[in-house]
Amino acid sequence: MRFDFQGPLGLGSLCASVLSIFSNGHQGHQQGSITHHPVLPPSYPLAVRNPYLSAWMPSDRVQQLPYSEPQFWAGQELGWSVIVRVDGQAYSVMGVPDLDEDEILPATVRRAEFTSTHSTFDLTAGSVRLTLDFFSPVTPANYLRQSLPFSYLTVKVSGSYFGNDIQVYSDIDGRWTGREDRSVLNYEEHDDGLLIHSLSVEDAAKYAEANDMALWGKAILASRPSEYSSLSSLTGDPKSVRAQFAQEGDLSGKEFDWSYGSVAALAHDLGTVYGQASVNFAVGYEREAAINYLGEEYTGYYRAEYPTTHKALSFFLNDYGDALRESLELDQELTAFATAAAGPKYADIVALSTRQAYGGTDLTIPNDSLDTDDVLAFIKELSSDGNVNTIDVIMPAFPIYWVLDPDWIRLMLEPVMRHYPNAIGHDDQKAEPMPIEESGNLLILALAYSRATGDSEWTGQYMDIFQKYADYLVDNSIDIANQLSSNDAAGPLANETNLAIKAAVGIKAFGELSGIDRYSRIGEEHANIFFEQGLGTDPEQTHFVLQYPDYPESWKTPYNLFPDVLLGLNTFSNDAIRVNSEFYSHVRGEYGVPLDNRQDWAKSDWNMWLAATFETNTRDEFVDDLWAFMTNGKHNWPFSDRYVSTSAHGNEPGIPILCRARPTVGGHFALLAWKGPASVQSLSINKSTQVKHKGGQVPLRISWA
Ligand SMILES: *[C@@H]1O[C@H](CO)[C@@H](O)[C@H](O)[C@H]1NC(C)=O
Ligand SMILES: *[C@@H]1O[C@H](CO)[C@@H](O)[C@H](O)[C@H]1NC(C)=O
Repeated sequence: MRFDFQGPLGLGSLCASVLSIFSNGHQGHQQGSITHHPVLPPSYPLAVRNPYLSAWMPSDRVQQLPYSEPQFWAGQELGWSVIVRVDGQAYSVMGVPDLDEDEILPATVRRAEFTSTHSTFDLTAGSVRLTLDFFSPVTPANYLRQSLPFSYLTVKVSGSYFGNDIQVYSDIDGRWTGREDRSVLNYEEHDDGLLIHSLSVEDAAKYAEANDMALWGKAILASRPSEYSSLSSLTGDPKSVRAQFAQEGDLSGKEFDWSYGSVAALAHDLGTVYGQASVNFAVGYEREAAINYLGEEYTGYYRAEYPTTHKALSFFLNDYGDALRESLELDQELTAFATAAAGPKYADIVALSTRQAYGGTDLTIPNDSLDTDDVLAFIKELSSDGNVNTIDVIMPAFPIYWVLDPDWIRLMLEPVMRHYPNAIGHDDQKAEPMPIEESGNLLILALAYSRATGDSEWTGQYMDIFQKYADYLVDNSIDIANQLSSNDAAGPLANETNLAIKAAVGIKAFGELSGIDRYSRIGEEHANIFFEQGLGTDPEQTHFVLQYPDYPESWKTPYNLFPDVLLGLNTFSNDAIRVNSEFYSHVRGEYGVPLDNRQDWAKSDWNMWLAATFETNTRDEFVDDLWAFMTNGKHNWPFSDRYVSTSAHGNEPGIPILCRARPTVGGHFALLAWKGPASVQSLSINKSTQVKHKGGQVPLRISWA
């Protein structure tokens, strides 16, 4: 019954469980001598584009950026350094842990900033100012740009009018391959000046992972000379390669070497810079066989047009100007919309969530046909179990697709639907039985897609299947058997009210999808039983209970009401929706409301869903609490969607639990969803010129904004 199939991506790990906490942070924008704008995040996304290209800089390392190595999302260190040479003196800007200060001085970090698509660090080195701009495009409507498995590092130098002699260096090491001890180097020089270092694992089995990293692809550092720079390259022991750069500002003429611990380096010589200059590097992780979809190879969408690494990288570097322009518009638009929706703290949450949400996904086409009409999106359940296209991971994330590009709901459901009923995957006895959760989710997602895009053809072809799920809900969602919900960490429960809510909304969603009134009526009848007749509430109707009947004191955040309101289904009455706002102020811990009365932990995605159904005051409390968790300086993982929100059980509040870098932070867009589907203009502009899909009807705008 459960849809998530054991992924082609390999057996996932359990949640990485090492909790590292740092205590030197303090609330606010200032940490040490550095200004964090708009606020201090737990970790800065550096190159975050898919489950295997996910490099982060924990924010407690930013103060010491010249010495600090980034981390893969799961927490292992990655070698990635940047050194800039100013008038003959080299300065480390990032990632040189064992700095030899006779040779290389540390630059001074001044400021760090994140937006939806950029993380930037401002430093000074001697008399010049430097900016590292880590840019991971988020362009869901532009499939080509979105699918490229590369990220930009732009190093900007701002010196004196009278000129500074400038060279810029970057390197990566074998840890990017997941098996440094077996890493091998491939180096290419192309006629167009493009230099490419690719690092891979010798004899790696296809689709093998180690510590959540892919072993069968290649880590890439590439660049090409600009009009104003010449480019040189070298590989070898980091001390000698960096010393070579520090002394000469140039890497040419030396013997390449590759062994355990080596770095692969590129250096731009800009000569004398008057005022400002910048250079771009591409950093990536490419898998030609990106996904094994039930035995069929799927590769990145971009390969239809740019089938080689060289062509893809050339395009990527050529595309910088357009990608940058689009990203600045997106950043600005998201900030403005999110601020208007729920204030500046909400805008911070949205900005930090954007890259992470898409960073759990891949956009693919069949490797043999490269047919761009057969696009499938895959989403990996990072850090929880590694499963692929888990329905109850697509579900919490769906508000971001709704807002940025609702077609992604179809792109993610299609791999599940197409092989029905063969997508059973879990033949390892590890299936998690949550039939109501998954049935309700599927029907609601299908309707959300159809409403958002106006495409009824896609849902039409699967209507018989959907109907079976709807029938299942009709028969099984009042007297609910003991089972898990999406929050499997909370354990199974019979008669869980929030599942009953989901089922009622799911049944009505199917009624709307199919046009069969009977289902709509049954969905409403169920809602009536649970609210108006009081089966799912306390007798005073102050809140929905966790479990019925006879547990009037219990409660659980009834976040499944959100799609009912968003999609205008009115399965539940306005009174039922309104009942919640007041109650949740009374069960609020230091960092917000836990999932239910049994837990001391909150789910950030579900809390934003629920907040989207509230009156302004309670909504703002939920936003404030999540923001307070995000910015409290007590943790340094990629945004965790699960954290201790109250000290009621004796645990320290404001600390994440197990989950990191999960794409479910797409759910943080729930408050923006009111703007309507595909409401971000900077992205939809691209769309008309590019998207090809079957279905293809004129989008229908319902009155969301
Ligand atoms: C993908 O297709 C290319 C081009 O047809 C082919 O050379 C390559 O072997 C295929 N890759 C895989 C992993 O099958
Ligand atoms: C679940 O609720 C139904 C309807 O109120 C009730 O008949 C049934 O006994 C309950 N089951 C459990 C396990 O409490």
